[in-house]
Amino acid sequence: MRNKVIAGNWKMNNSIEESVKLISELKQGLNETDIKVIICPPFTSLETANALIKGSQIELGAQNMHNETSGAFTGEISASMLKSVGCKYVILGHSERRAIFGESNEFINKKVHKALSENLIPILCVGESLEEREKNITKDVVKKQLLVGLDSVSSDQAEGIIIAYEPVWAIGTGKTASPEQAQEVHEFIRTLLEEKYSKETAEKVIIQYGGSVKPENAFELLSQKDIDGALVGGACLKADSFLGIIKAVKN
Ligand code: 13P
Repeated sequence: MRNKVIAGNWKMNNSIEESVKLISELKQGLNETDIKVIICPPFTSLETANALIKGSQIELGAQNMHNETSGAFTGEISASMLKSVGCKYVILGHSERRAIFGESNEFINKKVHKALSENLIPILCVGESLEEREKNITKDVVKKQLLVGLDSVSSDQAEGIIIAYEPVWAIGTGKTASPEQAQEVHEFIRTLLEEKYSKETAEKVIIQYGGSVKPENAFELLSQKDIDGALVGGACLKADSFLGIIKAVKN
């Protein structure tokens, strides 16, 4: 039995003041029966967020990191730095990192290994573009992203990882994948995990859906057999809508 996990990817949004306000509102709106929640603020708000979420069911993640331990990598952040500000998770291979910053599957795989070696849980993002979906190559693209992203990752390690399926055409566009479209790819991802590892391992991996998740569509999406949570962008920036998604979902 997999527990549902809702994560909010704040992307490049929220000053420290705005972060304090949003987290305070979230804490007020959550109660113990709600499911597990992860927030992924920008680097500048991580330390503040870590202090504010203590004692609540909110956990902390970052949106990216570099694969090297330290050194001359201007503008980058290491896994151990994220650990030191209280991060438990890190989003890796988000489609914006892939498309805007040219991150390859191989580079993302290096980050996955670094995160695991520092006991950070990767939220590994995969997903096809509109062009790829129209060319009917969704599964080929997702398969490559998943298998290269998890290259040399052991089954013990894989069991703790979160995979996020985010079709690029559904991100920030208001166009959600239908529950059936999403379930089809989620099931495919679980089958790939079963082939690479085992049924037991595949059944343990949390697979989140991301792409225009809102309070209105969260229940239906997360009722699908292989959809174990959501990675939320736009709708996590307002406490009302993020709480609406969380409340729509029960374990
Ligand atoms: P939206 O929810 O804004 O579509 O963004 C999804 C996303 O990219 C989360 O990582």
